[in-house]
Amino acid sequence: MALPDGYGLRAPSPDDLDAVAEVLIADELDDAGESTLGADFVRGEWSRGDFDAATDAWVVTDAGTSVVAYAQVTREDPSVVGSWGVVRPTHRGLGIGAALVDRIEARAAVLLGRGPHAVLRHSLNARDAAAQALLAQRGYAPVRHFWHMEVTLARPLGSASPPEGIEVRGIDGPDDARAVHAVIDEALAEHFGHRSEPFDSWMRDQSDTPGYDPALWLLATEQGRAVGALTASLGDARGWVDYLGVLAPYRGRGIAASLLRHCFALFAGRGIRRVLVSVDADNVTGATSVYERAGMRVVKAWDVWERGTLDPGRATGV
Ligand SMILES: CC(C)(COP(=O)(O)OP(=O)(O)OC[C@H]1O[C@@H](n2cnc3c(N)ncnc32)[C@H](O)[C@@H]1OP(=O)(O)O)[C@@H](O)C(=O)NCCC(=O)NCCS
Repeated sequence: MALPDGYGLRAPSPDDLDAVAEVLIADELDDAGESTLGADFVRGEWSRGDFDAATDAWVVTDAGTSVVAYAQVTREDPSVVGSWGVVRPTHRGLGIGAALVDRIEARAAVLLGRGPHAVLRHSLNARDAAAQALLAQRGYAPVRHFWHMEVTLARPLGSASPPEGIEVRGIDGPDDARAVHAVIDEALAEHFGHRSEPFDSWMRDQSDTPGYDPALWLLATEQGRAVGALTASLGDARGWVDYLGVLAPYRGRGIAASLLRHCFALFAGRGIRRVLVSVDADNVTGATSVYERAGMRVVKAWDVWERGTLDPGRATGV
C-alpha cells in the first residue's frame, strides 16, 4: 500500500531518536492515558546488536518533515522476527499503518526466509482497535497479553529480611554474573519467547543495553548456591526490572519478594521513584501476583499478534 500524498518514508538516523520517542509517547497516552516507554526504550531497541536501522526501521515524515510514524523489525531468533510500530494519533486513518506493515512484512520475509515454522510477532497497544483490525485482516491472530506494571517508591525504603537461610546480595565479578545467567536461563526456560543463550552472547546483549548497570543485579543464595536472581537497569528517571527468576524447588518461600524489595531499595537509594516491569499476563508461575504483592500495579496492557509464512515476493508498494 502506498503512503498518502505528502508523506515520505526513510530509514531513521540517530538524530530522529527523540522525535520517534515523542510519537511513541503520544501513541501510549492516546491508548492508555499513561506512558511507560520513551527515548530510553527506543535507544535500547536501536542499540541491539542485530538491529540495522538502514534496513530494519522506517520513519514516516509529513510535508513539514516532522516524524509522524515509525516501525521496526528485529530478529528474535532464527525463526522469529519481532516488530512494532506507531502512528501519531493525529495522522491515523490515512493508511500510514498499512504501508508500514507492508514494509515490516517484506523485511521479515527476507530475515526469516521461507522456513515452515517462521513467524512474525507484532507488538501493539492492547486497546488499539484500528491496529487490531489491520492485523486481523492480514491473517494475524493475538497470541499473548502483557502488562507493564509499576510501583512508585515511597522514601525511605528499608530493606526487608530475606526468608530464613537465604542471602540476597549484589553481584561481584564474572562468576556471579554467570550465576545470574544460569538461574535466569533455567527459571525462564518455559517462559513465552524465552531464548536460551550461551553466557557470553547473553552478557554481550546485556552490556550493550544503554541502561546496563550490574550494580543493580542481585543474587539470592542458599548455602552459597545461587537459587534466585534479578537484573534491573536504569531508564530515563525510571528503573526497570528486566529479569526475575527463582529455581523451581525454591519457589513459594518469598525469595522473589525479597529480591524485588532489595531492588526497590537500591533504586530508592539513587532517588529513582518509578520502577517498572514487563510481565506476561498469563505467566503460569504467578509472577503478576508476586509483583502485585510488592506494590506494583498494571499501568498498561499490550499484546503480541502473530502470523506465519510470509511471502518474500510480496511487494511493499511504499
Ligand atoms: C515468578 C517467580 C520469580 C516467583 O518466585 P518465588 O520466589 O516463588 O516468589 P515468592 O515466593 O516471593 O511468591 C510466590 C508465592 O509464594 C507465597 N509465599 C511467599 N512466602 C511464603 C511462605 N513463607 N509460605 C507460603 N507462601 C509463601 C507468596 O505470597 C506468593 O503467593 P501468591 O502467588 O499467591 O502471590 C518464580 O515462580 C519464577 O522464577 N518463575 C519463572 C520465571 C518468571 O516467570 N519470572 C517472571 C518474569 S516477568
